[in-house]
Amino acid sequence: MTSCVNTTAGPGESGEWQRALRAQFPILTGHPDLAYLDSAATAQKPQAVLDAVQTYLTTTNANAGRGTYPWANRTTSLVEETRDRVRRFLRDPDPERSAVHFTSGTTEGLRTIARDWLPGFLVDGDEIVVPVADHQANIEPWLETQRQLARQGTHVRVLPMPYQQASGDYDHTVLARLAGPRTRFVAVTHVHHVYGGDMNIPRIREAVGPDAVICLDAAQSIGHLPVSLAGLDVDFVAFSGHKALALPGSGAVWARQARGPRFVPGGWSGTPHTVGIVSLAAALDWLEAAGTDRIERWTVALASRLTDGLRHLDAYEILGCQTSLAADSPVQRRQGIVTFRHREIGSGDLGFILFSHGFMVRCDQHCQGSAGESSESVRVSLHVYSTVEEIDRLLSVLATLG
Ligand SMILES: Cc1ncc(COP(=O)(O)O)c(C=O)c1O
Repeated sequence: MTSCVNTTAGPGESGEWQRALRAQFPILTGHPDLAYLDSAATAQKPQAVLDAVQTYLTTTNANAGRGTYPWANRTTSLVEETRDRVRRFLRDPDPERSAVHFTSGTTEGLRTIARDWLPGFLVDGDEIVVPVADHQANIEPWLETQRQLARQGTHVRVLPMPYQQASGDYDHTVLARLAGPRTRFVAVTHVHHVYGGDMNIPRIREAVGPDAVICLDAAQSIGHLPVSLAGLDVDFVAFSGHKALALPGSGAVWARQARGPRFVPGGWSGTPHTVGIVSLAAALDWLEAAGTDRIERWTVALASRLTDGLRHLDAYEILGCQTSLAADSPVQRRQGIVTFRHREIGSGDLGFILFSHGFMVRCDQHCQGSAGESSESVRVSLHVYSTVEEIDRLLSVLATLG
């Protein structure tokens, strides 16, 4: 069982580095009175991404895969180069074999796997593990596949993923007992969108054995921490570009193509979202130059600061892991998402109060599956542009409501 440790990390000497990066986000520098703390919903865009989009639209815009004139050829190349960019960003150990398919985001990515690949992989009597307290986007598609197969006479059993109540982490020990030779597909999330925990994917692989397909919802990890496929042993990764500093409507599925049939998204998908794809390449360049390891240290340190501050305020209950976690801790780590409730003020009301002080946070059930929280909460989610000052100011406003 994973446990929680209490350490207070401080951003320390990274302040200069972070200030230089934050200065590259025009929406933030243009609104110094506001604190954007909702990056798990969508992230803000650096100037380099805005410039890449403008340059593309003013110099090269054409359709991809159609036409033989230079703008069309260049657009086709940009799309193909971005597939390779995604592979490199993910440290794909076998890029010759893998596929990268562009989507509008994680939801469409997971749906595409569920619709176009999973039915051809499962046979009667197989089991699939569904993370029932994760984001709806990582639950519904798998249940739909189960229903679709049942209509055709193929019966697949859904094993609800076990969780540890205190931390919101998966219960790897119980999962290892549940999973057997018929457990062939396991849907998991890399970083939980409510509890903020890194869900320890290597332990999922240990629990389910070497043959099961693992499909990773990386919506909250891509761009927030180094994601290296070499160390993960997963078969699919789906993520949203817009949460990783690219434009809305961009995203991708990476498919390893090592277990089961080839991943061939079906149907004619029409003109690709070329501008989104261009923005994704620019965002991945920006993130890599900034250093995802440094981004992780920064946001984990801020989340620790917020968690530790909240623990001293009796009026608040923190969801998931109760204490902050050091980036170098051997146990489950809280990433840059902290979710809490006031014991008396409703979360919706708290959201209004916080916005009156300039804080933009999310206050609802965060699209969590029905096995998750039964009431609303306030979620603070961070990215590299979030500041110590924002966290300290938020804590002092929260303290006045105690
Ligand atoms: C863990 C997780 N999965 C999936 C999604 C869905 O992402 P999108 O709306 O970009 O498809 C989200 C969005 O918040 C998420 O946090």
